[in-house]
Formats: sequence, C-alpha cells, structure tokens
Amino acid sequence: MPFREDFIWGAATSSYQIEGGAFEDGRGLSVWDAFSHQPGKVFEGHTGDVSSDHYHRYFEDVDLLARMGINNYRFSVSWPRLLPEGTGTVNRKGVDFYNRLVDALLEKGIRPWMTLYHWDLPYALQARGGWENPDMPQWFEDYAKLCALSFGDRVRDFIPLNEPQCFIGMGCGSGVHAPGLVMGKHATVPMAHHVVKANGLSTQALRALVPGCSVGYAPNMNPCMPATKSEADIAAARAAYFHVPEGDDWHWNVSWWSDPVMLGEYPAQGLELLERFLPRGWEKDMPLIHQKLDYYGQNIYQGHVIRAADNARGWDEVPRPFGIAKTASQWPVTPEALYWGPRFLYERYQTPILITENGLSCHDALSLNGKVHDPNRENYVHRYLLNLRRAAGDGADIAGYFYWSLLDNFEWAEGYSDRFGLVFVDYTTGERTIKESAWWYKKVMESNGESL
Ligand code: FCB
Repeated sequence: MPFREDFIWGAATSSYQIEGGAFEDGRGLSVWDAFSHQPGKVFEGHTGDVSSDHYHRYFEDVDLLARMGINNYRFSVSWPRLLPEGTGTVNRKGVDFYNRLVDALLEKGIRPWMTLYHWDLPYALQARGGWENPDMPQWFEDYAKLCALSFGDRVRDFIPLNEPQCFIGMGCGSGVHAPGLVMGKHATVPMAHHVVKANGLSTQALRALVPGCSVGYAPNMNPCMPATKSEADIAAARAAYFHVPEGDDWHWNVSWWSDPVMLGEYPAQGLELLERFLPRGWEKDMPLIHQKLDYYGQNIYQGHVIRAADNARGWDEVPRPFGIAKTASQWPVTPEALYWGPRFLYERYQTPILITENGLSCHDALSLNGKVHDPNRENYVHRYLLNLRRAAGDGADIAGYFYWSLLDNFEWAEGYSDRFGLVFVDYTTGERTIKESAWWYKKVMESNGESL
C-alpha cells in the first residue's frame, strides 16, 4: 500500500543546533550556552555561538529548502531569543526573526512546523530550578501563548516539546547534556510530571489562541523489534518497548512519557516503581495532561532486537550481530525500527503517527568535483522508508516523515563531529552544498514514495 495522499514529507532542525547569533539582538542565555562554554562538556569545546549561522543565512536556507523540493520544514523557536529572562519582557527583535523566517517559508509555499522547545531552556529559568520548579508548566504555557499570538496567524502546526526523555534524562539525570545535572528519581520523576503538565497546558493554550491548529508531541525511544515473526517474540518486543526500566535509566521508555498524554494515565508497571516520587496530588493533573493530539510524533533512529525468554519479565535483548552497519555516530543501522516502532505506537495510541525525526550522520566531505557524495545516507533512508511504508500497508496510520536534519549542525555533546544534514555546511565560511542524497530524497517526495 502506498503512503497517504496527504503524506507530509519534510526536514527538521532546531534553534540551538543551527542558529548561532547566540549573543545578538537581545537574545538571552540558554542552558546550552552555559553548558557548551564549560570546559570538557562538549567535544573539543565546540559551542553553538556561530553554528550553521542560520540566524544570518535563514533566507538562503529557505531558498535551499525550495530548491530541494521540501514542502514541510520543522524548526524550533529559541525561548531565550523571545523571552531573554524566560518570562516577562519580550525581545521584539527575536519575534521579528521568526516572523521573517515564517514569511520567507510561506512565500516559497513551505509549511512551517514550529517546535516550541528543543532543549534551549532560558538560563534564567534554570537558575530558578528549571523543570524541577512546579511553576515551569505555567512559564511554558505563557511562552506558548506568546508563540501562538505572535505566529499563529500564519503557523498552523505546533509541536510543544521535543524528546523529554533526553532533556530530562540526559540533561538532569546523567548530566551529559545541558544543564548538566546528575540527579536521582526524587528529582527527575517530578520533573517529568511537570513536562507532561506543560504539554497539556501549552496544547490547551495553542488550541484556544490558534483555532484549527494541529498539535503534536515528539518524544523518542528506540523501538523494540521482534527477533522472529513468532507471536511470542512479537509480544515480547511489544512488552519490552513499553516497559519502564527499574534503574536510574528509568526515563528511557515510551509509556511513562506518552501514556499520560495519550491515554490519561501512568502505566501500572511504571507506577509500581515511581509513584512514590511523583509530586503530591499528581492525580488531579491527569485530565489536563490528557489532551487530544492531532499527531503522535516520534523521533526514531535505531532499534533493539528482542526475543521471548524464560525469565521474570519474559524477554531478553538479542546481542547485535558482529559487523552490523553503523552510522558515523556509531549508531547501528536497523531499518525495521521504522516498521515496528510506528506499528506498536499506532496500536497503543490510535493517533496518526508522524516521524518527527529520522536520519543519520555520515563522514561527509566536499569532493574535488564540488559535490558531496553520501550513498550511505541514501541507503539508510531508503531502507527505513521501505519499512515505514510497510507499516502503513499493515494498517498503521502514518501521517508523515521529517528527515533529520536539513543542515549539518551542532550535534549537542558531540559538537560538529557528526554531520546529519541533507546540506553540507563549511563551518569556516558558512558555505552550503546540497548533498547528493538530497536530490534522491527530492524524487522520493515528488513521487510520494513510489520511487522507493
Ligand atoms: C535527536 C535530537 C536532535 C538531533 C538528533 C540526531 O535526539 O532531537 O536534536 O540531535 O537526535
């Protein structure tokens, strides 16, 4: 079965990863500015100060999107560019930047998909406790209202939050991302509750202020793929995918972050482990957290193979085969993740699935002929998309796919060592070169996946 006729084909970026202009035009500090400037936190001390310089080159980047035939562009707004202190006084120059970007997109017929939070929390709010502060949902709601009022006359599609598993788990649990906190469940579980509450409040605000808009969610989690097609292995993979881990890595799961939003309740197995860490009175927040969403977004890059096992939980992970293909970031290439992930997610949440990110880093280089040849990217995307199409054929409602990323950019703690873009960026000159895979992707989009 082919993809839906109205299938959304696009590419994605995020503010701190591409914009640069970190200290310009009144932008406030974000936790990522503070973190990347701390010695030893990011590969070779890289920062997002200049990055892909999108702040100055946004017009050229919109033009690239148009040339590459990309009709949907997912980008994020930098909260501290709009509200340098996180709340209160609005930085008009920040609003103007996104107005110019949105207008340029619309002029080229490109649909803007606005993410409100892709990890660059205003440092001023972190100083007040950040996600640990019970006022965070309210601060986020106010920020969402500002975005709705500033851009909602032209932007119709909103994604309040990107990958809470990462910005809480890696940001405040293991501390490998900003703000670099190392905290246990006593802190991270309440933070997670504030996150889903912020999602509920912002969704309500967006719907009230932008009638008819679409709202989605963009969590992540590596899908579990059954080792064989046996019923036992499929059931084992499903169980593993929605399982909440017992340890300090409890945040690597789907259900704790998504069941409250999509089903209005925390998963029972997770509650057994984590209920005692939830803020007092959490039950009364559940109706607010449970807002109907138009899309259940998911960022998917790789999966784990699971088989049924004769142990207490009933499953085991199968070790990866020797020599498995890997991306430049050393992430295993597991195309079936884009079959089993969407299939299990649709089965559980019964909401159109939007792949809000998928892609890979390669060792891309500018060739002597002026081109960037990246056959590994084409091979990866081709294989993953075939699986996504198969999931659609098997009954999962798949609404769209965004390639991560439009541009090479600042890959968080890995700095500029990983190149995920469809467009190569020379960080010394800022010069852009469209990679060969982008022309291949253009044909895929133009044929709505028929060319795969
Ligand atoms: C995801 C992030 C995105 C990017 C990709 C490679 O976890 O959402 O910003 O870093 O991974």
